[in-house]
Amino acid sequence: MGLYSLFRPAAFALDAETAHRATIAAVKLMPARRPPAFPRALKSTVAGLEFPTPVGLAAGFDKDAEVPERMLGFGFGFVEVGTVTPRPQEGNPRPRLFRLSEDRAVINRMGFNNRCQLAAAERLRNRGLHGVIGVNIGANKDSADRIADYVSGVRTMAEVADYITINISSPNTPGLRQLQDEGALNALLSAVGEAREEDGPPIFLKVAPDLGEGEPDQIVRVAAQHRVDAIIVANTTLSRPPLKSRFKDEQGGLSGAPLKPLALSALRAFHEASGGTIPLIGVGGIATADDAWERIRAGASLVQLYSAMVYEGPGIARSIANGLLERLLREGFSNIAEAVGTG
Ligand SMILES: Cc1cc2nc3c(=O)[nH]c(=O)nc-3n(C[C@H](O)[C@H](O)[C@H](O)COP(=O)(O)O)c2cc1C
Repeated sequence: MGLYSLFRPAAFALDAETAHRATIAAVKLMPARRPPAFPRALKSTVAGLEFPTPVGLAAGFDKDAEVPERMLGFGFGFVEVGTVTPRPQEGNPRPRLFRLSEDRAVINRMGFNNRCQLAAAERLRNRGLHGVIGVNIGANKDSADRIADYVSGVRTMAEVADYITINISSPNTPGLRQLQDEGALNALLSAVGEAREEDGPPIFLKVAPDLGEGEPDQIVRVAAQHRVDAIIVANTTLSRPPLKSRFKDEQGGLSGAPLKPLALSALRAFHEASGGTIPLIGVGGIATADDAWERIRAGASLVQLYSAMVYEGPGIARSIANGLLERLLREGFSNIAEAVGTG
């Protein structure tokens, strides 16, 4: 855990959101570092982008694109900032973020608090050239036209994002997940398709883990029709597996260890539905190299994490990448891409 073992007790003495703000402030104060070099075996090309390792930082940690390059410097293979909406938004009243330490989990009902797409785009304009930074976009809670909000995001972010994620899976904006329904998704992705430029960044779609039977097939069909470049499986869950923490009954999306089985089975469903035709990004409860390896073997070209970093610190990105390298060599693969979907 390194330095983080010194920082963690102080952070955990604060409420979760104050700790998060303090973490971002501390990261900002650190000297900028170039991303570490990784062996070629971990490098892969997905949706036309080169990823130095398959281990990324999931959306929601750096909502306003304050520290993406610092996070690349810690050894994440890519960083997804956001969710950002067209207009700035306060989000839900506090408290709205809870650490379920006994469960190695987090519950959040942040509700897309962010300073807006343009503000994030301005910050990203000054970024250096190293590494992959994706931007996750969403709709304002009180928007009269949610599809227009995504179109605005695609246009605003086209110049500054290496990829753009259409987030229709946050459980904390009422009705947002209904955009996953076949008709609504078709309308959304048609509009996004029109807004997207020929030489613009790839478009990813982020889905919920709480889908009914047949839904992964529908989503894959519509996504393929509209040339979605990758599907991120998955966001937080509204379901509640057995939990120990006193915060277990808080409303919001659950992430971390208890999400792992659900996110893995959702990934498997999407892998089966797509037959490997659309790259998948596995996220939800990944905390170790074994977790990441299992996700890759189940069909994920890349993985992301957030909650485990709360407990283990940012060094987790490097240690998972190193663990993946060991597994690759042990099982006779020469590159990570060869292992995708072999489990
Ligand atoms: C505090 C918090 C805020 C989040 N905010 C967002 C968000 O704004 N947009 C998004 O697509 N996902 C968001 N997520 C979901 C994560 O990106 C990820 O999909 C989920 O937490 C599962 O991964 P994990 O178990 O590794 O945390 C958030 C998660 C947490 C814990």
